[in-house]
Amino acid sequence: MSEYDVIVIGSGPGGYVCAIRCAQLGLKTAIVEGRETLGGTCLNVGCIPSKALLHASHMYHEATHNFTKMGLMGKSPSVDFKTMQEYKSGVIAQNTSGVEFLMKKNKIDWLKGWGKITAKGEVTVGKDVHKAKNIVIASGSEPSSLPGIEIDEKVVVTSTGALELPKVPKSMVVIGAGVIGLEMGSVYARLGCDVTVVEFLDHITPGMDAEIAKTLQRTLKKQGLNFVLGAAVQSVDAKKTKATVNYKLRKDETDASIDADVVLVATGRKPFMDNLGFDGLGGELTERGQIKTDDQWRTNVDGIFAIGDVIEGPMLAHKAEDEGMAVAEVIAGKHGHVNYGVIPGVIYTTPEVASVGKTQEELKDEGVDFKVGKFTFMGNGRAKAVFQGEGFVKLLVDAKTDRILGCHLIGPSAGDLIHEICVAMEFGASAQDVAMTCHAHPTFSEAMREAALACGDGAIHA
Ligand code: FAD
Ligand code: NAI
Repeated sequence: MSEYDVIVIGSGPGGYVCAIRCAQLGLKTAIVEGRETLGGTCLNVGCIPSKALLHASHMYHEATHNFTKMGLMGKSPSVDFKTMQEYKSGVIAQNTSGVEFLMKKNKIDWLKGWGKITAKGEVTVGKDVHKAKNIVIASGSEPSSLPGIEIDEKVVVTSTGALELPKVPKSMVVIGAGVIGLEMGSVYARLGCDVTVVEFLDHITPGMDAEIAKTLQRTLKKQGLNFVLGAAVQSVDAKKTKATVNYKLRKDETDASIDADVVLVATGRKPFMDNLGFDGLGGELTERGQIKTDDQWRTNVDGIFAIGDVIEGPMLAHKAEDEGMAVAEVIAGKHGHVNYGVIPGVIYTTPEVASVGKTQEELKDEGVDFKVGKFTFMGNGRAKAVFQGEGFVKLLVDAKTDRILGCHLIGPSAGDLIHEICVAMEFGASAQDVAMTCHAHPTFSEAMREAALACGDGAIHA
């Protein structure tokens, strides 16, 4: 039997970051992970592999669509999907072994296997019983399918199967126009697959700024993705190498169906707690089945904390990481804090989409008096040079104080550009603060400054 100050269950971005911060704060720490490799959903079957495939397929798309426009002539590359998958696996391995290195460096014990909380302050892994003053549950999430749809990860797949396909299918139906559906749909459409996205709502990406969602849909359509909106999927009939997706159009209740080689079910994720033992200790859940915590990530069971996808809030790696650091600080007797009002969200399509803070729709609903500063990437020289002038930046500020309330953009490197506004919001900055900051030329970030200028006397290149 071993005794720890903290045992963290789960080594995703929430768990491993929490373990490192605990160790840095002088706490004797162990991490429990049942997978063969560390890093959780994010590194093994989520953020990292999807971004590797997005990168490779984007390069292919550039080579086949834009190279000749720039005078880069010659034979176009062809897709060797096996090699592309090997590249992806290599990227995963580099990252997961990097986390293993960090565990060793910080003297964190990796307890290999599936952990069960067998009593307060006790975690059992296999036959080994470990004691801990504090337990942090960071057990993450798993795909949630639709009732009656059976996943075989070959013909009817979740994101995990979609990342592992042995070849590029001729056709794919994606159920759900959320983040996974659009990112994975983009990958396969770029590689030559006929992709149709079927979405329940009458718009894509619920919760996103409506104007951005429309622009994204239009751009993806141009890239070859087909959309069926307002369609409630009823069932999927799967055969050995094909499947039929049956849906009802909500506006007139008509039934329709589409055949495809592969069906990707991307209708959201749910908290993962199988055999965790939390319920056995009287652990309380929210109505949506997440572990309930207070504002210091304490559950109702003494000495047990929870963070990341298994609790409320956006299911994002960086949200899990922030909670991981903050809960470690709480356990160490410090003041851990997460500013939930400033958590960016990014969709890694081309162009990228990024947002932080309130949307225009939310501000209207809340009756806030706000101003909008908009700037199109058409006025940004650098964006035009890389064929990405189509997007725009929308900055939302308080009409009286000029304080930044939100920012939404679609355009080149949007996922990086958004952080200028995240920092500004953390400092409670105004649009004028951003507008007065010198931005290097020619950069995409000049578009952020122009949107800030548009909140005042006007953008220069509009
Ligand atoms: P997880 O990463 O899910 O890790 C939990 C770990 O706990 C798992 O490894 C699991 O095996 C382990 N575990 C669970 N129970 C036990 C137990 N009892 N004993 C031992 N081990 C246990 N987010 C982003 O921010 N950006 C992205 O680009 C992005 N892309 C994504 C792409 C895809 C395809 C998917 C599916 C998700 C993506 N996400 C992305 C979401 C992101 O992966 C999650 O928000 C993040 O991984 C949550 O981290 P976590 O630490 O809470 O849990
Ligand atoms: P999601 O919640 O983003 O989207 C699910 C979509 O499915 C919604 O648009 C919903 O309306 C639709 N849907 C639900 N039921 C349906 C039905 N019966 N028929 C048709 N459509 C239906 O969930 P998704 O894409 O599965 O992603 C899960 C989580 O993973 C997200 O919460 C996201 O935060 C995270 N993620 C983040 C990424 C990023 O940050 N870039 C990338 C990938 C995933």
